[in-house]
Amino acid sequence: DWTPASFVNETVARLKEQIGDSHVIMALSGGVDSTVAATLISKAIGDRLHGIFVDNGVLRKDEFEQVLKTYDAIGLNVTGIDAKQMFYDQFKGKTDPEQKRKVIGKLFIDVFHEESKKVQGVKFLGQGTIYPDVIESVSVHGPSQTIKSHHNVGGLPDIMHLELVEPLRFLFKDEVRKVGLELGIPADMINRHPFPGPGLAIRILGEVTEEKVKLLQAADEIYIKGLKDHGLYTSVWQAGTILLPVKSVGVMGDERTYEFTVALRAVTSVDGMTADWAHLPYDFLAYISNEIINNVRGINRVVYDISSKPPATIEWE
Ligand code: XMP
Repeated sequence: DWTPASFVNETVARLKEQIGDSHVIMALSGGVDSTVAATLISKAIGDRLHGIFVDNGVLRKDEFEQVLKTYDAIGLNVTGIDAKQMFYDQFKGKTDPEQKRKVIGKLFIDVFHEESKKVQGVKFLGQGTIYPDVIESVSVHGPSQTIKSHHNVGGLPDIMHLELVEPLRFLFKDEVRKVGLELGIPADMINRHPFPGPGLAIRILGEVTEEKVKLLQAADEIYIKGLKDHGLYTSVWQAGTILLPVKSVGVMGDERTYEFTVALRAVTSVDGMTADWAHLPYDFLAYISNEIINNVRGINRVVYDISSKPPATIEWE
């Protein structure tokens, strides 16, 4: 019978055998899957696992620091790399969603590759691939009908001539969470919503600038904190804010404002393949709208996205 404890024991034993006394390098994203995968590998080979966590400038507010702290608490050997400015430079003039994804994917690989050269004796690349990723990459996102080019770390193993280590390849998300809790990873980390690799870059419609990132981070923080404080965070599958490329007129005191609009998105889903917009309480939406407009200079209007997938998608880009 499958239990989280038996899975951990068997997997750690198998990893020890597979990896031997080699080293493993791995890109960590701060997400559940890569964290659980890394913790399993680390249990097998300790600090011969070398995690790399890149700040691409489009993470959530304070996420880089907080995630590194959690890795430290779990005991993972992870190097944080602040590459924000390189990413902001690359975002200049890019407005097309797929072009933005490409830029992020490519620069990420460059940064990771550069950093990996500092580690000797690496034979393996760790990845947090889970079973739905395996299915999804052959069905929906196959070459014939790519809807969005979901960038994670595709391309890396080939460039670096590494063998893959994917301890979660046959697990579903709920099983990954159970394994994570079994491993003693904090529940906060285990219950995090999914967050796309290209981060806030695909939630800022049009060109991404550092100023817009700051604006969206501020709104997003209010929204996510609000969901948690009101006990709604775990009832939705994913939530976030989207910065629309529209300015509209408002009033603040006796001044006319002309500022950006933010859309709130929250969905219920099982696997992200289909999703319904979450029917959040009106009182909560009213509270968040007030908090954002009163506290984030540069945003004077908040709207709620009531589209389901399909035909809409969860992200706006
Ligand atoms: P969509 O917008 O396609 O999103 O309904 C489904 C799920 O995938 C995430 N997503 C991405 N994840 N790279 C990622 O790693 C991407 O380019 C990307 N685009 C969408 C999205 O956040 C949702 O969980």
